[in-house]
Order: sequence, then C-alpha cells, then structure tokens
Amino acid sequence: MTAQVVTITSGKGGVGKTTAVANLAVALASGGSKVVCIDGDIGLRNLDVILGLENRIVYDIVDVIEGRCRLKQAMIRDKKLPELYLIPAAQTRDKNAVSPSDMNRLIKDLRTDYDFVLIDSPAGIERGFRNAIAAADRVLVVTNPEVSAVRDADRVIGILEAEEKGPAALIINRLNPVLVKNHDMLSADDVLDLLAVELIGIVPEDENVIIGSNRGAPVAFDPKSRAGQAFRNIARRLKGETVPFLDLDSHGSLWERIQRLAGRK
Ligand SMILES: Nc1ncnc2c1ncn2[C@@H]1O[C@H](COP(=O)(O)OP(=O)(O)O)[C@@H](O)[C@H]1O
Ligand SMILES: [Mg+2]
Repeated sequence: MTAQVVTITSGKGGVGKTTAVANLAVALASGGSKVVCIDGDIGLRNLDVILGLENRIVYDIVDVIEGRCRLKQAMIRDKKLPELYLIPAAQTRDKNAVSPSDMNRLIKDLRTDYDFVLIDSPAGIERGFRNAIAAADRVLVVTNPEVSAVRDADRVIGILEAEEKGPAALIINRLNPVLVKNHDMLSADDVLDLLAVELIGIVPEDENVIIGSNRGAPVAFDPKSRAGQAFRNIARRLKGETVPFLDLDSHGSLWERIQRLAGRK
C-alpha cells in the first residue's frame, strides 16, 4: 500500500479547510479506505472537535516529533469508522515546533499502512503552510466564492506551482445558488475564470455543515445533505473516479421554467 498524501489549504482563514478534511476523511473511510488525518494547525487545533474526538486526545503531533511518544500512541481511532485515525495538533505549542523535514519523516512512516493521509493546513503562507505541503502528493485549495478568498487562493496556487507542488485542484465551498442567480455572488464559472486551475468539487452553503461540526458528526455521514453529497463526490474523484458535478442551479432553473410556463417571464 502507498498512501496518497493530500493537503487541504487556502491562504485565507475560515473558508472550510478543516470542514473539508473532516468530511473527506469520513467519506473515504466510509468507502473502505484506510485514512489518517493530520491536524497541521499547531496552536489552533480543531479537527478533533469537528470529528468528535476531542475527549480522547492524550498525545499530539509535537509529542511524536519531540520523542515523547510513539506515532501509534498519538493516533486516535474514530468511534464509528475503525479505518479512520486522527493525529491531533498541539494546542499550546509554538508553530515552529514542527519543520517540513519532521513532517516528511512522520508521513514516510504512514505511507505504507494507509490509503490516504489528509493534512489540514493552517491559514497563511508561513511555516505551518510549508509544513502542511512538505510531503503532499496532491494539494487541494479551498476557496469561497468571494473576491478576497479567491485572491488568496490565487496567491497560494502560484506558490504551489513555484514549489513544484502543483497543479493544485480547487474546492469551491459555501456556494449559494440563490445569491449567484441574483448576481450577488461569484458563480463557480466566475471563480474558475479567475483561477486557472482544475476543479475537484463545488460544495453548497448548507447549515447542516455547522450543525454537524458542532455535534462532532461531519455531514458526509448524512445521506440527505447536499454538502455531504458534494464531499462524498470529491472523495470519489480523489480515488480517480469520474463523477459529474452536482447541479446546484437545479432549483433556480426549475423555478424559472415554472415562471416561463406560467407566462410570467
Ligand atoms: N458548506 C458550508 N456550509 C455552511 N457552513 C460552512 C460550510 N463549510 C464551512 N462552513 C463553516 O465555516 C466555518 C469555517 O470553517 P472551517 O472548516 O473551520 O474553516 P478553516 O479551516 O478554513 O478555517 C465553520 O463554522 C464551518 O462550520
Ligand atoms: Mg481550520
């Protein structure tokens, strides 16, 4: 077995990186893959909370790197998915406690035993970001359909290319079809015109994402959630399957058709 090491990053904070890592991990492990996710956000850990594993943390990634425990001791097994593990970030330590070569060494030990290693990157383009991309085979950049997020994504995509970690693939998260239709939000096509990059998924705005995160049960577990479906589709694309993109405009165009049929347009 040789793991695919996938880093999720963005530039801008709060766009949905941690949400994406948790949901892709759940979707991949539900599909039978062996998955480890690593919280690379040293000092601001929260992947443990989103996965509902915060009460089980004994050791963290800095303990492994500084030799206070073995790698296996810091790996927390998920309650529902026995093939899903989390390596938590340290809560209190300085970001510089980990270096890119530490990450390379740690991930080398995981490659042989797992199908996927998913790394949650902190915001920004400093040390934590460099650590997160050091061992990546593939980088997914998350953006929201907002000008500031797209600009930061563009900068990160440029750095990834310069570091020979590209081409990145893009997740457009929190798309709201009603706002797009009213020209109050960039559409997926607008974002793709601005960023010359391959698209790997469009995730709609969905309040179930927030509810699931608060409960420690990511929406990828919920067969009815549209965001959950979008994350499950991205997981399948990571495995190399061709999966059509969700038609997020279906409600809008149906409404338009009804209006046309009623002669109002
Ligand atoms: N598709 C979505 N729909 C609704 N809320 C979302 C969605 N994706 C993320 N969020 C919310 O956005 C906030 C930031 O997400 P998070 O994953 O923590 O971002 P980051 O890791 O990039 O800082 C969280 O409150 C999360 O629940
Ligand atoms: Mg985060």
